[in-house]
Amino acid sequence: MNVLVTGGAGFIGSNFVYHMLNKYPDYKVICVDVLTYAGNLSTLEDALKNPNFKFYKTDICDREAIYKIFEDEKPDVVVNFAAESHVDRSIENPEVFLKTNILGTQVMMDACRKYGNIRYHQVSTDEVYGDLPLDRPDLFFTETTPLHTSSPYSSSKAGADLLVMAYYRTYGLPVTISRCSNNYGPYHFPEKLIPLMIANALNDKPLPVYGEGLNVRDWLYVEDHCKAIDLIIHNGKIGEVYNVGGHNEMKNIDIVKLICAKLGKPESLITYVADRKGHDMRYAIDPTKIHNELGWLPETKFADGIDKTIEWYLNNKTWWETIISGEYMNYYEKMYGNR
Ligand code: NAD
Ligand code: DAU
Repeated sequence: MNVLVTGGAGFIGSNFVYHMLNKYPDYKVICVDVLTYAGNLSTLEDALKNPNFKFYKTDICDREAIYKIFEDEKPDVVVNFAAESHVDRSIENPEVFLKTNILGTQVMMDACRKYGNIRYHQVSTDEVYGDLPLDRPDLFFTETTPLHTSSPYSSSKAGADLLVMAYYRTYGLPVTISRCSNNYGPYHFPEKLIPLMIANALNDKPLPVYGEGLNVRDWLYVEDHCKAIDLIIHNGKIGEVYNVGGHNEMKNIDIVKLICAKLGKPESLITYVADRKGHDMRYAIDPTKIHNELGWLPETKFADGIDKTIEWYLNNKTWWETIISGEYMNYYEKMYGNR
């Protein structure tokens, strides 16, 4: 089988590339990634040595180039991870989010239609459901929860999801969508909560917690997300949405304190800063459908996953130090300098 993965030089996409190459030695994995600030070719260093792996530095919005790749590689299935993924950046500059996340999705689906109604999987997010109140722990997002977005990022992902379902209904494109909660693990770009806090703590820098740090996220180890997508592309029902989440809700402040404790750093590094605009309070996925239909369950407990993640950042300092020493510093100064 030829699996075309977009955004494979980013966090989850790269973990998925390795998952597929390791699990299916007879599959070919074709990666399309334009290498934005969030894409890193060094992440794919080992994959590039594998004869079953091919990399294209290409923008998913570049229709002509994408069509050419489909002609040359003849994918059987497309998994679209490519996206602008950081909420804070979307608040600063929404435009590129609409372009990549919606128009890029359109180009990828048009290519699937043009070259034989190819199976298409859209990697979406629990953020399309908006947020839940902190005082209603009985509420969870199911696949029928209405879309109700808060940020330009989540709106662009919801727009893409609607377009995917429109391509299914209008053109009969064989699609599936997964909506996952917050991932953590290796190769997570250090602008997101967990890797940012690990990197800052290791450098004895302030740990910027938005608002009071009471917002809740439902954390899932990235490998469990990859396994869920693997199951969906092989056994998922066409035209269906699958929620993916670990039932592992934690307050931001508790995560940051845990990281301090694990690294032997003082909590006095914690600095409360201005809240994110439109900040979602709580995300919580109900994964009953994917469990009942496809037998998926999260395998990595948070206690183990966070230890593995911290260990990975300790053992792979060059990877993240290279990132935070470059262009990223300008971003950091802009976002946190006067916050
Ligand atoms: P990421 O920002 O780490 O990686 C995104 C990748 O997409 C990068 O390699 C980047 O270079 C590439 N890319 C961006 N624009 C592109 C374009 N126009 N053409 C080709 N490549 C492009 O993101 P991530 O955290 O790995 O998220 C991957 C997907 O999963 C996204 O669609 C995101 O919405 C979704 N998701 C993420 C999470 C999470 O917790 N990180 C949770 C649920 C869903
Ligand atoms: O829920 C899935 C989503 O999870 C994905 O769709 C997004 O692509 C992914 O980036 C992530 O979005 P979040 O906004 O939840 O993740 P982030 O790591 O940016 O923030 C997690 C929480 O931590 C959030 O409540 C904001 C807070 N935060 C974040 C940063 C970067 C801080 O308090 N301080 C920070 O410096």
